[in-house]
Order: sequence, then C-alpha cells, then structure tokens
Amino acid sequence: MCGIVGYVGNGSAREIIIDGLKKLEYRGYDSSGIAFGTGNNLEIRKCVGRISNLETLLSKENLDSHIGIGHTRWATHGAPSDANAHPHSNMDESIAIVHNGIIENYVELKEMLINEHGVVFKSETDTEVIAHLLGVLYDGDLEEAVWKAVEMMRGAYALVAIHKDEPDKMIAVRKDAPLIAGLGKGCNFVASDIPALLKYVREIYLIENNELIVVTADDVKIYNAERKPVTREVFHVTWDVDAAEKGGYDHFMLKEIHEQPKGLEDTLVRRLNDNGEIVLEGITMTKEDIENFNKVYIVACGTAYHAGLVGKAAIEKMARIPVEVEVASEFRYRDPFVDDKTLFIAISQSGETLDTLAALREAKSKGARVLSVVNVVGSSVARESDDVFYTWAGPEIAVASTKAYTTQLMCMYMIGLYMGLTKGTITREFYDSYIEELKAIPGKLAKVLENEGAIENLAKELYRREHVFFIGRGPDSGVSLEGSLKLKEISYINSFAIAAGELKHGTIALIEQGTLVIALATQDKLFEKMLSNIQEVKARGAYVIGVAKDGNKDIEKQADKTIYIPECIDEITPLLSVVPLQLLAYYIAKLRGCDIDKPKNLAKSVTVE
Ligand code: G6P
Repeated sequence: MCGIVGYVGNGSAREIIIDGLKKLEYRGYDSSGIAFGTGNNLEIRKCVGRISNLETLLSKENLDSHIGIGHTRWATHGAPSDANAHPHSNMDESIAIVHNGIIENYVELKEMLINEHGVVFKSETDTEVIAHLLGVLYDGDLEEAVWKAVEMMRGAYALVAIHKDEPDKMIAVRKDAPLIAGLGKGCNFVASDIPALLKYVREIYLIENNELIVVTADDVKIYNAERKPVTREVFHVTWDVDAAEKGGYDHFMLKEIHEQPKGLEDTLVRRLNDNGEIVLEGITMTKEDIENFNKVYIVACGTAYHAGLVGKAAIEKMARIPVEVEVASEFRYRDPFVDDKTLFIAISQSGETLDTLAALREAKSKGARVLSVVNVVGSSVARESDDVFYTWAGPEIAVASTKAYTTQLMCMYMIGLYMGLTKGTITREFYDSYIEELKAIPGKLAKVLENEGAIENLAKELYRREHVFFIGRGPDSGVSLEGSLKLKEISYINSFAIAAGELKHGTIALIEQGTLVIALATQDKLFEKMLSNIQEVKARGAYVIGVAKDGNKDIEKQADKTIYIPECIDEITPLLSVVPLQLLAYYIAKLRGCDIDKPKNLAKSVTVE
C-alpha cells in the first residue's frame, strides 16, 4: 500500500510530486506529505486527509525545490494522523524518507535505536525506524547507509531517502513492493506506479527486487543485491494519458464500467487468429504440459478471487481437470498439495498484491507451473510467473474493480477453451460455437449499459436500505459474491451473498418483512430452482429484485422488479449479469454521498499481508 513519488531536476518538485501523488491515491489516501531538499536543509510538510489537504497546507507558503520526495499513505502501523504521515526523518532532521510496505522487525530495531542510541520517536510507524536507522548508520554517504540498513531490515518495502548534505541525489530500494524510475530530460523520477509519471515521462526502468537505485537529475544507476551495476532495458509506456483520466465521467468507476465492452473485445480478439484459434503468444504451455497437469489451483484476492470461481467451472468443464479456488492469504499458510503436476493460476489486476505474490512463490517453490492472469504489464506477479495471460482492461484506477473483473472472466473462459481443445476434451465444433458466443458479448454488454437509466431509478428506490442479500445458483452464485462486494465496498451497506440453495440452512432466519434480496436467475438449467428460492424468501416478506435473461418472463410472477440481460449460453452469463450489479452499487453509493473511487479503509493495491 501507499504511493511514493520522487523528483530531481530542473522543474518544480512541488508541482510534479503533488500531481504524481494524486495519480497514486488509489494506493492509499489517509494522509500525505512531501520533503524538499532546499540546498542546505530539508523541509517536511505533511498532514492527515486527502492530497487536497496537503495542497492547502503548501499553498500557505512559497516552498518548492529541484528535489523532493512525496507519499500518500494507507495506514498499517499507527492510525492516520499528522505525526504518522510520511516523510519521516531522523533526530537531527538531516534525512527524510518515504516508504511503502512493512518492516517486520521494526520492534527489535526500535528497541536497539532507543537503548543504544537514545533515539526519541515521534510517530507509531515502522517507517520512522528506517529514518533513525539511516541516521545512526550515516557516515557521509547516504547510499552506503541505505545498503547497511537494508541488511538489517526484514519485510517487504520500497523506500526513497534524501539527505540534506547530498542535495542532488535520491536513493531508493525495492524489496517486494513496486518501484519504477522515470527517465526525463535533465530530470529523473521514482514512483510506485506508472500513472504517477505518465504526464512527464514515457521511458521508464522497472526496478527489480533487492535492487538499489541512485537517482540524480542526469542519471539513474541501478545496482543489484551484490552491489554490482545493472543494465536495464528501457520500458516504453504506450498508454494514452486519457486512459488514466476520467474522460468526462463523474467517477473513474463509472468510466471503467463503460469501458468493459472494449476491454472484453481487446482481451478476446487480440489473442484470436483468423481461424478463431486462441494464440498464446508468449505462453509456452504445450499439449504435453496440459496432459501432465492433474490439478489446478486458482489463487487470488478480492474481486480477482471471484473471477477464479468462474474459472474453476470453465476449466473443469472444458479441460476435465479438478480445480481448487482459494483466497491467497489462506492458501500460503496451509501446506497445500502442490507438485510438478500442478498448474497454479494467479489472478491479479495490479500484479502487486502481496498475498497473491507470496502464494505464487510458495507454489513455484514446490514445482508448480505458474500461469498468471494480470492487467499491469511488468508487475511483480507477471514477472515471477512462467507464463502470463494479460487482460486488456487498460489502467483501472477506481478502488472497486469492474473492468478488470470482466476481462479476467474472459481470460478464464479462454484458458478453459484452450486447455480443453488442446487436450481433446472438447470438440472443435463446441470450441467454435463457444468462441462465437464470446465474440458476441461486447455488443450484448453495450445493450446492458443502455439500461443504465432504469438501474439509476432503481437505485433511487433502494439507496436507503441498510441490509441486502444476494442469492444465485451455479455461475450466479459467484456473481452474487461479486455484486455483494461491489455494494458493500463503495456504499457501506451491509450486504451478504449466499448460494440460493444454502439459504434454508440458516440465513433465511434473517429474512423478514421488506428485506431486500437480489436474486440472480440467469441459468436456464436452474431457473425453476431459483424461482422456488425466490418464493421461499417472498413467503417471509422479502422484496425481491430479479436478474434474468431476456424472455424468462416467468420471473415476474415471483420477483417485485426484474433486470433483464441479453440471451447467451448459461456458462458465460457472469460477463453480462455483473454489470447491472456494478451500476446499482455505483448509483446507490452516489445517492448516499459516498466517495466512490476511494472508499473508506480500502486501497486498490494491497501490498501488505
Ligand atoms: C484490493 C482491491 C480489490 C482487488 C483486490 C485484489 O482489495 O480493493 O478491488 O480485487 O485488492 O487485487 P489484485 O490487484 O490482486 O486484483
């Protein structure tokens, strides 16, 4: 979590860093700060709240410089407060640092600093330990002090340090937390992620784990853990700046919901050849490899985990291999059955989620073949996987994931189809008709979006509710989980999802007069069963919003209101049915006055355990 930006060069550090931090607010936004090197001193300004608070604070004086480091925080150690905000400094305030991640042995280091060096701490953060550690290790060379500190610290972190007596230099280190360097003309940058720098540079270095960089206005030097200089290829960013801006929409989330037809089309079409065959460019999975797998694990967090549930059904049905889906934070601590006959699929929008990354490493160390489904090119998950199946969602900024989810679903169907066809467990005829169904999805999704006004009206009717249940069967049960997550994370309504058939085993006790139930009934095979489940909750007084395929009008006999989605085969309805739920969550949250793109307590990229 947390976002870092650093700048050294001939421009205004203040303007560039504030601008970059705003682009990184998705990484955390409970407090922010900047340290400027003023030639013979350091000036630190920081405060609790959004970046706009920092701007107000800075507007009271004429402070700027050619060098500075900035930070936007998502609290781990110590509540959001001015004192806990970064940058942090050592006792004589000669060093300033910003940090993303966790120093696991900070208690031990803190005790050593207090007992042996008489250090007095001003915050509750683990980060302040790094500043004081550098302070006691500094002997006229900041780079040397950082090398020594790295040897003493355990954990996952990216950090940037400046010293008042070395006024033209930033030292940064990466260990299991993202860090990039931007290459400008007469200036250079460091940051946690590309959007922070897009306005200024397109040439970047992706910094690898355990590397230290020395950044001056004219140069970026990279060193590996053995302190040997490293030559890195320049990565040229091709994104459109607009893709990382709101483009006329009120919120990134709404823009991203509307980008789904394009994202799905790109994800599918870019991997299809003229014969409709899936081309796994850059993926080296052979027929023998696929035949060798006797088990698949799909591991992810949050929304990506929900995409994994759909992936399980697709791979089991088409490739006839047993699939387990698990949240990454559970997988890594339970000694799972993984060997060289296991295919491990990690799904991650950011490619930086620490739990997912750690689970991937665990599986890899036990011999699994690792395939990842990732949106951010060059991210840690992508780099550490054997093969990567990129989603083509483009940058996703809103904390609540929408287009990343649907493009992840598209990848899961494609992986299932590819494995099934290669292994011979599905016929070419089945494959071709499935691909045709998938090709029709972007157009059908555009139709779902045309219904936005009706969903906004529904939101007006429902936004004061405080409890909601989502129910569904088969693929609809996975979508219920995702619909429920969308609603709770941005509107703070207490929402709960459960497989419809499981309701009667306990949860139905909570249904009373007027309880809102959103019932997904898009599965032809399970439609009648769902009608029975709707009847059960109706009989106890529930108010039911149904989601069904066009034409399944019988639902109107049971549900109070119905949202229709276009006809398609049962397995792929999640690509369509999730969209009205995203829109409903969006409009409900808007009517409740919530901060939609940056919900409280959440962050988009969770790089802590
Ligand atoms: C955070 C985000 C979620 C996301 C999850 C996994 O919790 O708020 O939207 O689904 O992390 O992120 P990843 O980048 O690994 O998909």
